[in-house]
Amino acid sequence: MQIKSICCIGAGYVGGPTMAVIAKQCPEIQVTVVDTNHARINDWNDDDLNNLPIFEPGLAEIVTEVRGKNLHFSTEVDKAIDEAEMVFISVNTPTKTYGKGKGMAADLKYIELCARQIGRVAKSDKIVIEKSTLPVRTASAIKSILDNTGNGVQFQILSNPEFLAEGTAIQDLLHPDRVLIGGNTSTKEGEQAMQALVEIYENWVPKEKILTTNVWSSELSKLTANAFLAQRVSSINAMSEICEKTGADVQEVSKAIGMDSRIGPKFLNASVGFGGSCFQKDILNLVYIAKSYGLNEVADYWEQVIIMNDHQKDRFSDNIVSTLYNTVSGKKIGFLGWAFKKNTNDTRESAAIKVADNLLNEQAYIAVYDPKVKAEQIYKDLEYIGSRSLEENKKYLEVFDNPYEAMKDTHGIAILTEWDEFKEYDWEKVYQQMKKPAFLFDGRGILNKKEIENIGFVYYNIGLGN
Ligand code: NAD
Ligand code: UDX
Repeated sequence: MQIKSICCIGAGYVGGPTMAVIAKQCPEIQVTVVDTNHARINDWNDDDLNNLPIFEPGLAEIVTEVRGKNLHFSTEVDKAIDEAEMVFISVNTPTKTYGKGKGMAADLKYIELCARQIGRVAKSDKIVIEKSTLPVRTASAIKSILDNTGNGVQFQILSNPEFLAEGTAIQDLLHPDRVLIGGNTSTKEGEQAMQALVEIYENWVPKEKILTTNVWSSELSKLTANAFLAQRVSSINAMSEICEKTGADVQEVSKAIGMDSRIGPKFLNASVGFGGSCFQKDILNLVYIAKSYGLNEVADYWEQVIIMNDHQKDRFSDNIVSTLYNTVSGKKIGFLGWAFKKNTNDTRESAAIKVADNLLNEQAYIAVYDPKVKAEQIYKDLEYIGSRSLEENKKYLEVFDNPYEAMKDTHGIAILTEWDEFKEYDWEKVYQQMKKPAFLFDGRGILNKKEIENIGFVYYNIGLGN
């Protein structure tokens, strides 16, 4: 079965880049990415590539190459489903904010809406692919909806979770560590559907990196991978606090343990706390699944990863307050970075949001600079937390286009994101413009302590004892 047309529902951080890469690598396949968000689709179609809704290194180049040829962005969801042989579901699966499982379970309402829409529209057999991250066993719910609402056509459900990380999405998609495809291995149709998807990836991914499993293993592997990655960050962050008390240096500890081939060097950077749309949501979901099976010890074990992460964010802002003589009321604090990591404009669950909220509660005045995040988004993030009105947030938090302006006259500077450009700043100039003593709180460990202290700063680095 050679696929000629693909539809992807959801033009977000996963749907957009993933489909752009499939279109680039498979010129014979027509790929249409659809979304109900008209503004987002307009941005994807904008001639000015600076207006693409997502910033990812390398993405604009691929969009230029394939958009209008075999990659299309549209709001005509029914039409795209109807025309496709393969439908990827790539919609958001946020944490539930209401009802049973509130604050923990994944909210599957968007997934269900997609399944019902596919069932209603499809007039020919289709392969339906879970690209979104979903609780284990969701495929059976999708199948049940499709089989009971469809027009008598056949649906094969596959799980094909996405492992890209933001900021490196294009490289991750072009050179994935592995591609995981879960399906029904016990029927001929199930095998054929898996093979059809395998063949798409084989256009650019080496065979041995394409892994096929049963559908439940595939769904659960995605949650497991994110839990393991987040756990490493929380583990090193836990050690960072011990380092600060004992005079050890967490970067030296990371290096020392990372050279053990059983541990490995990646994901051992202590930080102000992990953010992003996935880690917290997926671990909470895992905790909820464990609890729903009565596995309370398993649930407690994974929940601790989140508890540690919340602690790390609070501890960072607490340290700013206590270092600035126990009050930041009326003091200007400069924020370098708002995105949850470098090379993305995504701010979901960014540590900066919580740190800012804590400091605003202490009546600080915050001046933010981020190279890619717009002011509008920053105010939206604070509004979502809901501690203050938009008016108050605008009064106490200002967003700057120029980092030196943001850092001028500050009592302290906090580095919240590890953007490369921060390392290149004229820190001597920054120091001259600050109130003294000039405090610098490096939540990402990106500056050189000796150099910074030689300038005159009082420097605090996550996980660096004195
Ligand atoms: P996103 O919020 O950026 O995009 C989702 C899009 O789906 C939105 O534009 C929304 O308007 C659209 N949508 C929702 N319901 C729809 C419907 N019924 N019809 C049409 N469009 C609809 O989300 P994302 O970051 O791309 O994540 C999508 C999924 O992928 C989530 O399950 C997430 O956990 C998973 N994931 C995300 C990442 C990541 O780095 N962001 C990585 C791997 C997996
Ligand atoms: C993550 C997973 O890595 C990816 O496989 C999955 O598909 C989606 O979730 P993402 O959240 O985009 O990707 O970025 P990631 O690089 O994992 O970083 C997550 C957070 O952890 C960021 O805030 C980052 O700054 C932080 N982090 C990461 C650390 O604090 N220290 C580290 O050593 C690594």
